[in-house]
Amino acid sequence: MAFVAPKGTYDLLPPEAAAFTAVRETLARPAVLAGYEYIETPIFEDTALFARGVGESTDVVSKEMYTFPDKGGRSLTLRPESTAGVMRAVIEHRLYAGQLPVKLWYAGPNFRYERPQSGRYRHFTQVGVEAIGVDDPMLDAEVVALAVEGYRALGLREFRLLLTSLGDPACRPQYRAVLQAFLAGLDLDEDTRRRAELNPLRVLDDKRPEVQAQLAEVPTMVAHLCRPCAEHYDAVRARLADIGVQWDEAPRLVRGLDYYMRTTFEFVHGGLGAQSAVGGGGRYDGLSASIGGPDLTGIGWALGVDRTVLALRAEGVGVGVSARCQVYGVPLGPVAAGLMFSLVTRLRAAGIAADLAYGGRGLKGAMKAADRSGAAYAVVLGDHDIEAGQAQLKDLRDGAQVAVPLDTVVATLQEKLS
Ligand code: HAM
Repeated sequence: MAFVAPKGTYDLLPPEAAAFTAVRETLARPAVLAGYEYIETPIFEDTALFARGVGESTDVVSKEMYTFPDKGGRSLTLRPESTAGVMRAVIEHRLYAGQLPVKLWYAGPNFRYERPQSGRYRHFTQVGVEAIGVDDPMLDAEVVALAVEGYRALGLREFRLLLTSLGDPACRPQYRAVLQAFLAGLDLDEDTRRRAELNPLRVLDDKRPEVQAQLAEVPTMVAHLCRPCAEHYDAVRARLADIGVQWDEAPRLVRGLDYYMRTTFEFVHGGLGAQSAVGGGGRYDGLSASIGGPDLTGIGWALGVDRTVLALRAEGVGVGVSARCQVYGVPLGPVAAGLMFSLVTRLRAAGIAADLAYGGRGLKGAMKAADRSGAAYAVVLGDHDIEAGQAQLKDLRDGAQVAVPLDTVVATLQEKLS
């Protein structure tokens, strides 16, 4: 029986894998420059962490989790997102007792049992940041700007920032009541009515045209913010405007996780079909307390690496396509092979990407491999060269070949490639 990758997953293969790692590194770089430090948490956590942190009524928790008992009878879950685990680690190790805000970044896989389609996988990778422990709207602006910088550094152009405020425990319940009263007056099916009772905000996310048509005049959270929330949101927007970040007001933005309050945002891209969100995040001031920690504020985002790769492809932007190798060694005979192995090792130590023809190949086959490798130069070494203490340096772009003393090959190539 031939095995294939499980449904909703895919193998990351070269050369496309280079784009993936380049995206992951480039998205994280602005955060590193802003003082965010790397954190890595387990891929599985106690199931209850997500139930309490992300919210039992969310699709992510109620329908999409990979939950299993381990041999010790514990209920564990492959993380469907990473913020809850990061907050768990911050609480467990009392990181909040040091310098605030605690600024962290991470990258890694997450797992959701979703219906697979292009851009939607059951195993996907995020790069994320979390800034915990200081309630300052300027930090919200910083976090948003870091994502914008990451996308720009990749050369992505057609992304949009959707921004809103979801209020706080002071104003959201009042808005919820206003929204429920409005929804009660609409012509909705039984299921949607029930949803309006349990989680009325979710109804705003209903994609069906017959529902959307009735929501044209729906009251919005931003119009019902309490004064502190309104001031907070104004300050975030002022700082974003100061640094030239553009956004679209998205008063009906609904996120799939329950911990959000105040500043909430998503990055969307038109080139992905149905799955337009390339990243998302927001403030989650209640998360720490909900999982048994102290009162800690927090804001962050996670950007989808898989979807960002697709978005770049849709725009025709190439990333991570640098040549796998700059210099290719072509040894002719066993003595030459040994010398070439040492030479290639020295080239690599000098920072030059180098490879050689393994397996005792003849000149023709080895030169073909040199061409395929993408290298700019081949170093050819035969018995005659060894006797003369030299190697042949061949420029693979124009075919020009010169003899170079063996002990100067590294220096010569360093100069030519600089
Ligand atoms: P999220 O919006 O659920 O937020 O996920 C963030 C991003 O991960 C999405 O915008 C999307 O690009 C990618 N993503 C999500 N699900 C899939 C999937 N099934 N296949 C491919 N890509 C996917 C969070 O996860 C929050 N923890 C973000 C956050 C951090 N909020 C505050 N801090």
